[in-house]
Amino acid sequence: MTVSSSAPKHIAIVMDGNGRWATRRFLPRVAGHRQGVESLRRCVQACLDRNVGVLTVFAFSSENWDRPAEEVSGLMSLMVSVLAKEVPKLHANGVQLHFVGELSALSEKVRGGLLQAEAATAGNSRLVLNICFNYGGRWDIAQAARKLVAAGEAVTERSLDGAMALAHCADPDLLIRTGGEFRISNFLLWQCAYTEMYFSDKLWPEFDEAALDAAIADYAQRERRFGKTSGQVAGAANTRAASSG
Ligand code: IPE
Ligand code: IPE
Ligand code: MG
Repeated sequence: MTVSSSAPKHIAIVMDGNGRWATRRFLPRVAGHRQGVESLRRCVQACLDRNVGVLTVFAFSSENWDRPAEEVSGLMSLMVSVLAKEVPKLHANGVQLHFVGELSALSEKVRGGLLQAEAATAGNSRLVLNICFNYGGRWDIAQAARKLVAAGEAVTERSLDGAMALAHCADPDLLIRTGGEFRISNFLLWQCAYTEMYFSDKLWPEFDEAALDAAIADYAQRERRFGKTSGQVAGAANTRAASSG
């Protein structure tokens, strides 16, 4: 069988399970989110070490506003404090930060912090880190369509693709969801048309380098056909191998 010969260049993650991690320890849910930040820090380092070019993570969905007010405000303050602490380190490590979502709905303080972090790291190129915050896949498709209509442009697959919030990146190769649920929860609906899916039972705070390597190894066994037949894919791989060696 032909396998995907290369490692994933773009990994997307639904970082799920922080609340359950905390509840199992009789801690408030926000303690789980704090631990989730530690897990993200470890994951970013692992992606830097493995030369993954793009990491896109789901940090707060359009629907997460419906959680208890205390949790929502805890998540917002966590974002502000994490940015202050982590951005200098991310910058030193060559990480280019992007915040992807409806940022205008955020408070001035949170939005200002996000925009400042983006500006400070814009010149970096070792790893693009997209943090989806107040993001929804449906929002993204709708905002892209609105942008095109406002500019008087025709709505085509190509023009929509270029107007999406992640237009600066190729589509994800691998989507990982932790926390044991088998659903996409309004994450990258447009961009995941041909993304390989990987579901882990681990709660996000427990997702470590070994778990990431297991996901990458699983991906390496997949045959990505993009609608073609297995024979066509194998033929193209053989041609590539012959011409390169
Ligand atoms: C994911 O963890 C983080 C956010 C949605 C902000 P959850 O908070 O959804 O954790 P569970 O699913 O309740 O365990
Ligand atoms: C998805 O997780 C959103 C993030 C990880 C930020 P949820 O916990 O909100 O998803 P559902 O509600 O279980 O589908
Ligand atoms: Mg959840």
